[in-house]
Parts: sequence; C-alpha cells; structure tokens
Amino acid sequence: MDVGIVGAGKIGATLARKLSAAGHDVLLSNSRGPETIREIATASGAVAKHTEELVRRSQVVIVSVPFSELPRLKPAFSGIDESVAVIDTSNYFPFRDGALEGLADSRTESHWVSAQLGRPVLKAWNSILAGSLAEKGLPGGAHARIALPVAGDGAEGKAIAMMLVDATGFDPIDAGSLDESWRQEPGNPAYCTDLRTGDLELALKQADRKIAIRKRDLVADKVFAARDQYTDEDILDLGRRIYSLTADDPELNP
Ligand SMILES: NC(=O)c1ccc[n+]([C@@H]2O[C@H](COP(=O)([O-])OP(=O)(O)OC[C@H]3O[C@@H](n4cnc5c(N)ncnc54)[C@H](OP(=O)(O)O)[C@@H]3O)[C@@H](O)[C@H]2O)c1
Repeated sequence: MDVGIVGAGKIGATLARKLSAAGHDVLLSNSRGPETIREIATASGAVAKHTEELVRRSQVVIVSVPFSELPRLKPAFSGIDESVAVIDTSNYFPFRDGALEGLADSRTESHWVSAQLGRPVLKAWNSILAGSLAEKGLPGGAHARIALPVAGDGAEGKAIAMMLVDATGFDPIDAGSLDESWRQEPGNPAYCTDLRTGDLELALKQADRKIAIRKRDLVADKVFAARDQYTDEDILDLGRRIYSLTADDPELNP
C-alpha cells in the first residue's frame, strides 16, 4: 500500500522502517521539511516529502506527532478522499502537552484528534513504548508475540490498521469503536504493558476510566522527574503495577 507517515521521530521512523521492510511504499514527513529527514527516510526505506504532498499521495496516513501539534495538521488533511484511512498514534500528557482547547469536553483523546484533523481517525500503536516497538516485534504465530489494540469506526479502515499493526510485528486486537478508545489511553492496564493477546483483551475489559487519569499522572510524575534513572523495562514494570491498582489503593489516595 501507499503509506504516508507524518512525524519522523521515535515512533514514526520506526513504523517507516518496519512497513517498508514489509513491502509497503512509505512516504515520511516532519515539520521542518523533507531535506531535514532525507537520511532518516533513506535508512528506513521511505521517501521524504512535505506533509501536504504525502497526505495527497497516500492510501493510508499514520499521524505520529506530539499531541499539541495536531491542530496544525488540519490544512493538509482538507479535501483528501474519504477512503483514505487515518491512523493516530498520539497520547496526551498534560504536563508535556499543556492545556488544549476542547479536549476536556471530548469523549476521548481520539475524538479530539479527529476534530483537529477534520476527519475520522483510528487509534493504534499509541500503547507501546518506542523501544518495544523497535525491538520486540515478532513474526505472526510466535508464542511471545505482543498484542496491540486498534480502535476506531468503519470496517475498512479498521481492517487496514489491523493489517499494518500485524506487519509491524504485533498481534492486532480489535478494541472496538472510537468511543471505546479510552481503554487504551495512558493510565489503563492495556497502555504500554507489552501484553500478549489474551492478557490484552482482559486488560481492555478491566480499564477503569474513573481512576485512569490518577494512574497516568502517578506514573508520569515518577518517570519524568527522573527519566535517566528509568530504563524502558523499569517503565514497563511500573506501568504494569500502577495501572492494575484498584481505586481504594493507598498509593492512589495519598
Ligand atoms: N515515544 C514513545 O514511546 C511513544 C509511544 C507511543 C505513542 N507515542 C506518541 O506518538 C507520537 C509521536 O511520538 P514520538 O516519541 O515519535 O515523538 P518525537 O520523537 O518527538 O517525534 C515527533 C515527530 O513529529 C514531527 N512533527 C512535529 N510537529 C509536526 C508538524 N506540525 N507537522 C509534521 N511533523 C511534525 C517532528 O518533526 P520535527 O522535528 O521536524 O518537528 C518529529 O519528526 C506522540 O503523540 C506520542 O505521544 C510515543
């Protein structure tokens, strides 16, 4: 497929490498212009483009930019064909992304993203750390293969997103409609915990929206206060522990 990836950072460049290796024709863009990512694009088997051209030329567009940057992308998405699936990898962290107009009133983070881009989105790859995405993919059928949730409306877009998640080395799990996408947002047991299929399905069911934000902020406070003291494995262990706490746990009620 013709796959466009907006954002050439830790997630975007890794997806470019994996999807090129899987045989897709990948275009890659950033905010500073194609000449600034030529090497990254070439190394990942992709071609660097301006975002506007990338969006026009792709059958599916993956958006992987900082959450607060999403409103800037709307002009590039205006007028593109409805058949183009748009997949968003983003997460919102208030200490990092600041206060954003309309977000508090949005049903989910993904509904806000959809409103910023002016078209429906699917949510995928948001719930895996960049290191796990780069290093832990496995071929289909492998016993230890990590599963990733894919949420969104529309069967065709969902099928494309699930096929691409599989191509990057992970078992795609249909996590329901965009209304259900909060279950894979930060603070929930399915978020960045590297689970296999059965455990991920259970984790999505166990999500508790009332306490997810407290858990998200607890983990973020610990990790970002001392980022250089945490390896990715430490962050995974911390997330697995905190995201599975119950609402009455003293750690959530200091
Ligand atoms: N890192 C993780 O472990 C992780 C895990 C899951 C999900 N995510 C989410 O995935 C998204 C990307 O994360 P990341 O870690 O890959 O970020 P990153 O390494 O900081 O890279 C961000 C990329 O977005 C580009 N960008 C910024 N503003 C843009 C704009 N207006 N138009 C086009 N490109 C723009 C940047 O290009 P310039 O440098 O040219 O500005 C850069 O290439 C975020 O929403 C994040 O929350 C991250």
